[in-house]
Amino acid sequence: MTSTNSLSGFTIHSHSHTTYSLRRLTTVSPPYRDGDGHGLRKSMLSPYTCNHHTEHQYSERAWSHWIKLKQPKLIVAPMYDGSELPFRMLCRKYGAEAAYTPMLHSRSFAESRKFRAREFSTCKEDRPLFVQFCGNEPDILLEAAYRVESFCDYVDINLGCPQRIARTGNYGAFLMDDLPLVKSLVEKLATNLTVPVSCKIRIFPVLQDTINYAKLLEDAGCSLIAVHGRTRDGRTRERADWDAIKSVKNAVKIPVLANGNIRHMDDVQNCLATTGVEGVMSAEALLDNPALFGGFRSGEWVLEGDDGFEDGKLDRGDLVVEYLKLCEKYPVRWNIIIAHVYGMLRKWFETHPDIRDDFNIKRTLSFEYLYSVVDRLRARGVRFPLYVKKTRRWMSTLPFYMMI
Ligand SMILES: Cc1cc2nc3c(=O)[nH]c(=O)nc-3n(C[C@H](O)[C@H](O)[C@H](O)COP(=O)(O)O)c2cc1C
Repeated sequence: MTSTNSLSGFTIHSHSHTTYSLRRLTTVSPPYRDGDGHGLRKSMLSPYTCNHHTEHQYSERAWSHWIKLKQPKLIVAPMYDGSELPFRMLCRKYGAEAAYTPMLHSRSFAESRKFRAREFSTCKEDRPLFVQFCGNEPDILLEAAYRVESFCDYVDINLGCPQRIARTGNYGAFLMDDLPLVKSLVEKLATNLTVPVSCKIRIFPVLQDTINYAKLLEDAGCSLIAVHGRTRDGRTRERADWDAIKSVKNAVKIPVLANGNIRHMDDVQNCLATTGVEGVMSAEALLDNPALFGGFRSGEWVLEGDDGFEDGKLDRGDLVVEYLKLCEKYPVRWNIIIAHVYGMLRKWFETHPDIRDDFNIKRTLSFEYLYSVVDRLRARGVRFPLYVKKTRRWMSTLPFYMMI
């Protein structure tokens, strides 16, 4: 069964368990009134607010929530047009232990039912889930957050987007220039929501500024900080600064996640060991290889002649087919599906440009056609396998169903 949340407009899929209910949503009234932007709950003394607790009690709450979520270590990073429900579910199947939604614009989300219906969907199995918003107005951000708090484990504030659109809209990493505003955003959510608030940040060029920033977030009521170890002007190709992430981890008492340069499970282990953080997030590498957290490694990261790896008996064609099936179950926009099919089949398309060109000129797409693209590539007899370590030491990190 698939239900549309009648008050908020977005879709909550419930294929296997029709009993998944919207009870919590229907019991909280004012903030869910559609579109008016008023009637926000006055501070409900949320269990996550820091105003009425000592710092110690507060960080304890942040930790007990994290522990209740079973301390996920392997996390799908937020990706606009990337980390939607079907892709999250594919990554979860292959070892991801938590996931972020793509960034959602808080004003559009608060005001437009159509936007909510198009941009957000979830299902019972899609947990733990971080729902990420961008914005710069506390009341609007809160209005947006109220609509999802029953369906997620953290409401996340995007403080890291460095793109021109974020500069124009004054959100994401450009809020690093206005820390009092950042503080008011976090405080607003932390004192009113029933789920904890997390923040995804970039680092400042000067380490002490990054540390002060992280402490400010913690003091404002943030329950978890994800640190992308690059500055606002840093390029994705630049190495992420794991030492800066380690300094943040040492400076605050709440859980910290590391982000940047996670391409395979060795990176995961190295990053955890170097930084001491609770978990890692990956973005770009997952687009290429959604099975990364299951210990599968793209051939790109296996050195020629290295006999420590073997064919993992899984290739990108298999992953595309699984992804398409998930998209049939959990519909998303076609441009998202196309981007993922491209991302996963990039190598195959490079060696068979005629099939790619046919794909490019196709005016109307269908699932049938996309499945046939994989079949045609397979018929050419070329495989781009994903590799696994022969020792399979990584298997101990897998959920049981992956070890069979
Ligand atoms: C396609 C794409 C979309 C992204 N969209 C978002 C987003 O919506 N919100 C966000 O905080 N970061 C976004 N990011 C940044 C990633 O979450 C991540 O911080 C960055 O890519 C560094 O991680 P990586 O080295 O694993 O790629 C995006 C990255 C990519 C590649």
